[in-house]
Amino acid sequence: MNSTIENIVNTVYEQRFCITDNFISKEEISLLKNKITSLNESNSFKKAGIGKDKEHITNSEIRSDYIFWLEKDDEHLNKIFFSFIEELMTGINRRFFLGLKDYEFHYAYYPSGTFYKKHRDSFKSDDARKITVLLYLNDNWKKGDGGELLLYTDTNDILKIEPLGGRLLVFESDMEHEVLMSHADRYSITGWIKNKSRLF
Ligand code: OGA
Ligand code: NI
Repeated sequence: MNSTIENIVNTVYEQRFCITDNFISKEEISLLKNKITSLNESNSFKKAGIGKDKEHITNSEIRSDYIFWLEKDDEHLNKIFFSFIEELMTGINRRFFLGLKDYEFHYAYYPSGTFYKKHRDSFKSDDARKITVLLYLNDNWKKGDGGELLLYTDTNDILKIEPLGGRLLVFESDMEHEVLMSHADRYSITGWIKNKSRLF
């Protein structure tokens, strides 16, 4: 296991979340952002839903961002991201004795004025999502741009995490969190490592 993954697995095991800065280079960030911009220009982004999994119920009072689901066979993303996610999944399975099997990721775009109210990523009726992974792509983020992530940790502490370009955030999906209103365009790759959905 490489040391970045080992560190993430151990840190999440100890404190339920882990922040890793400079996970990708500035060049990678701008490549990904160019892709997002062209997808956006072709109207490929959809208003994000609040339903289970990919069920599509939207509610702009709860969240107002836009998303684009990623394909696992995207060659470029495989090289820079999905191969890492596969290794992370193996590492977490070893340490947590979890049977994580699958993952799903989307690009997320928060235009100025959008937010995502306090929530958890795993649902009582569907707790397949176990680990949330976010990779922020905001190279020139500065104070005042907003869009910080509030992460409610066990000790009643609320962490305010700036969505800095290249910053990777991993946390257990049953932790409460929220995205404060963004005052500038805000981009990320967001997704979940899952075990299979339970069937009732
Ligand atoms: C989500 C979410 C956080 C972020 O998409 O479920 O909480 O920082 N995103 O974008
Ligand atoms: Ni969330």
